[in-house]
Amino acid sequence: MQEITLIKPDDWHLHFRDGDMLNETVPATARCFQRAIVMPNLVPPVTNAVTLETYRTRILAARPAGSDFEPLMTIFLTDKTTAEDIHAAKAAGAVAAKLYPAGATTNSDAAVSSLKSLYPIFETMSDQGMLLLIHGEVTESHVDIFDREKLFIEQHLQAIYDHFPKLRIVFEHITTKDAADFVLTADERIAATITPQHLLLNRNDLLVGGIRPHNFCLPVLKRNVHQQALQAAVASGSKKFFLGTDSAPHEKAKKESACGCAGCYSAWSAIELYAEVFETLDALDKFEAFASTNGPDFYGLPRNTNTITLVKQNWEIPTEIILPSGEPIVPFYAGQTVSWKLKG
Ligand code: DOR
Ligand code: ZN
Repeated sequence: MQEITLIKPDDWHLHFRDGDMLNETVPATARCFQRAIVMPNLVPPVTNAVTLETYRTRILAARPAGSDFEPLMTIFLTDKTTAEDIHAAKAAGAVAAKLYPAGATTNSDAAVSSLKSLYPIFETMSDQGMLLLIHGEVTESHVDIFDREKLFIEQHLQAIYDHFPKLRIVFEHITTKDAADFVLTADERIAATITPQHLLLNRNDLLVGGIRPHNFCLPVLKRNVHQQALQAAVASGSKKFFLGTDSAPHEKAKKESACGCAGCYSAWSAIELYAEVFETLDALDKFEAFASTNGPDFYGLPRNTNTITLVKQNWEIPTEIILPSGEPIVPFYAGQTVSWKLKG
């Protein structure tokens, strides 16, 4: 195939950050995505309607001229989140709330320390039709980092799922066969996003031949049987899996460091890399559903009506991008050749 035209996709999970960085991240995403679920893990996090609205205003101001890109806003759950916060956030346009177990990842220190104490909030969200987005990893220091997602399912996710028969949950950026199986076995209230890095890479790509800080993200890359399970999940055509890049920029110096940050900045190449994955899996016929229709259908939002076209053409991802701050950032797959290119 030389050309693919698909309904304009949305990115159901990303990090735009704030301030000057928005002038880089928002145009990068708006080049091919119509909407994006914007993660709230700023410092301090977006926890209520007021901070959500001001953050959305800053994102809208960073759109390229003429762009009708739409940020879909979320709030960050903390131990202090109240039912009133949920009602007000919903009224301000929040489509979802994000659950980070405290300490799970970048800027999550303010997050939830006891999941059970949030059950009344989940009840309110369920009544309000607000989705729960979950970073599914336990955070106890004695638990091996490669087992944290599996244990989260066993210790928390199964219980939340059983307890709230109407709550819709997105299990974000899944990385294991255990997670894919959980989602496939559960009913239609549970779906999952899958990133390009977890489809393209496994933990060898992080550690063999030297540490590759630009492939470090959380949840961490797993062994290849898990990568293969994720590939099988997207190739199956199940409506429960959809595109969420988890594009998460960190300046080069913060990644190439003795204690490097987690996150891959994939916005400039994600749609093309996903196309490559689906082509390699001989599943290009399932690509449009994954990228463009499963997400809005699950969220209960309209499908986009315009289209994008990708053409078969090699191009090289830049080795560095200079941020508005003047700092360099190394994009995901820097310096590598991609065989699909966005047209126009
Ligand atoms: O790798 C990651 N980076 N995983 C996350 O969950 C957060 C993200 C970030 O904000 O940098
Ligand atoms: Zn994320």
